[in-house]
Amino acid sequence: MPVGLEHIELVGERVRLRPIKESDAADAYRLLVDDAVLSNLVWDGPTSEAEIAEAYDRLEGELKSGESYSIAIERVDASGLLGCINPRFPRHPRQAEIGYWLGVPYWNQGYMTEAVRLVCHLSFKHLDAARAYATVFTSNVASRKVLEKNGFSVDGTLRSHVFKRGEWRDEWFLSLLRSEWEVREERYTPRHENIVFTRGE
Ligand SMILES: CC(C)(COP(=O)(O)OP(=O)(O)OC[C@H]1O[C@@H](n2cnc3c(N)ncnc32)[C@H](O)[C@@H]1OP(=O)(O)O)[C@@H](O)C(=O)NCCC(=O)NCCS
Repeated sequence: MPVGLEHIELVGERVRLRPIKESDAADAYRLLVDDAVLSNLVWDGPTSEAEIAEAYDRLEGELKSGESYSIAIERVDASGLLGCINPRFPRHPRQAEIGYWLGVPYWNQGYMTEAVRLVCHLSFKHLDAARAYATVFTSNVASRKVLEKNGFSVDGTLRSHVFKRGEWRDEWFLSLLRSEWEVREERYTPRHENIVFTRGE
């Protein structure tokens, strides 16, 4: 299991990443219950705001134990949730699986490209990842572009990989190796970063 984080704040040119909180549930629910978002996710979405509040409360604890990292995306110049990004380590503690979503009003402004850059910085620089990877429905060209702009490349297509809304969907599998990240990004420094590991880790 990767290390626990007491706190995380990563600030780029446009976005700030910070831990998700129970109080984000109302914003998240409003932005998530939109078919333009949910149709692109494997997850079918929350059934109520209470469900997401309960999940976010639990995720605050999981950040501290290192079980999962659920990170809120905000604009640098305004608080309020735009979306989420979640590096997870289900296969191996040094393999970061990255998932994310953004509310429709915030699309196509470069926010997720920067959020992925910051999460790669977290994963490779601070959590010693050997590889980052993501899977993307083959209809979701915008998400593929976000990853490619961060140096990921398509390893292949996972055919009929996810059963969603009554049909089998193909997914691209994209990855970024540590050596590739080092060439592009090793010297990158966010505008501000504050990562506090859980005591005793
Ligand atoms: C996919 C998603 C995360 C992109 O976030 P974003 O902040 O809008 O992405 P960015 O603005 O950083 O970059 C998007 C890129 O895709 C391009 N793009 C957008 N829609 C496109 C389309 N239909 N076809 C081709 N390119 C497209 C944009 O022009 C931009 O590329 P550019 O910088 O070269 O112009 C966001 O749309 C989203 O949350 N969608 C719903 C949930 C989802 O798909 N999650 C990911 C699951 S794998």
